[in-house]
Amino acid sequence: MNNLNIDWNNLGFNYIKTDYRYISIWENGEWDNGKLVTDNTLSIEEGAPALHYGQQCFEGLKAYRTKDGSIQLFRPNKNAERMNQSCDRLLMPHIPVEKFIDACVQVIKANEKFVPPYGTGATLYLRPFLIGVGDNIGLKPASKFIFSVFCIPVGPYFKGGMKPVNFLVSDYDRAAPNGTGAAKVGGNYAGSLIAQKKAKANGFADAIFLDPATHTKIEEVGSANFFGITKDNKFITPLSPSILPSITKYSLLEIAKDYFNMEVSEEDVFINDLDRFSEAGACGTAAVITPIGGIQMGEKLHVFYSETEVGPITKKLYDTLIGIQFGDVKAPEGWIYKV
Ligand code: PLP
Ligand code: COI
Repeated sequence: MNNLNIDWNNLGFNYIKTDYRYISIWENGEWDNGKLVTDNTLSIEEGAPALHYGQQCFEGLKAYRTKDGSIQLFRPNKNAERMNQSCDRLLMPHIPVEKFIDACVQVIKANEKFVPPYGTGATLYLRPFLIGVGDNIGLKPASKFIFSVFCIPVGPYFKGGMKPVNFLVSDYDRAAPNGTGAAKVGGNYAGSLIAQKKAKANGFADAIFLDPATHTKIEEVGSANFFGITKDNKFITPLSPSILPSITKYSLLEIAKDYFNMEVSEEDVFINDLDRFSEAGACGTAAVITPIGGIQMGEKLHVFYSETEVGPITKKLYDTLIGIQFGDVKAPEGWIYKV
């Protein structure tokens, strides 16, 4: 424990109010300079399009405390770029990459005491978000936007961290063909809550979403991407226009290829062809790598490596990924941003 009364070793993924958050306003075609504030509430117009029509998007990235006590970000430029892709999809103004990173850095520095110590496995999760505000009840893009970044110290997203968990294939779709599945927008998540509820009520960690057009291929594992290791040691992740382009997934594709000389591929992952995999996992900023014990579809539970033990390839990918993120393993050029 510490004077913040936070048990770093037993953090979950829950809201904790930290001291400062960043706010910037876009109006009349430009951003203001942005500032740090202490108030964790927002006051917005009742006609704000974010409230009625879901004109908003968000990001998720983490700050890591290294062994020497310094703090670093993992590929924050990729989150900034993806946020701008989400902005394009919902007709919202871009946030310049430098402004996005500067906002994250300001928030981390102002809340430095909340960055968990090295060795606890915990991190400071940053949540940038952009909402369309202003009075605007007709269906059209907002005239004013608020960009904000707040932070919370977090531990594992799925209980148990590196312990395998099981997932339930959902009958609900998360995204539509040519819809917003590749954008990190709130509507995708609101629509998936019911599937998550059903999965959890039946003892699963979360829902697996299949491709919306044919319901034959794996798309997303809750709020993480899927990967599988084939029996002949290939790293496979689904290729689809309706999944979120996960920064963790793209990093693992490079790690598997460049650090472990594995063959890698983005391709269809058919739900009735899971026997080809010896191991499987969910990957994302919050999920990091969470081993998938089994996937339930209808009456059948397909178990990969084990329901209780993590497989050896998943383990070594995990060790390398978090080694890079916490500064213990040499990162590819440009992946680490020192705060
Ligand atoms: N898929 C969904 C639906 C997500 O919400 C996330 C989380 O950001 C991911 C995948 C993983 O993406 P990333 O690795 O960039 O965090
Ligand atoms: C993340 O991994 O950053 C996410 O967005 C997960 C979140 C929906 C809890």
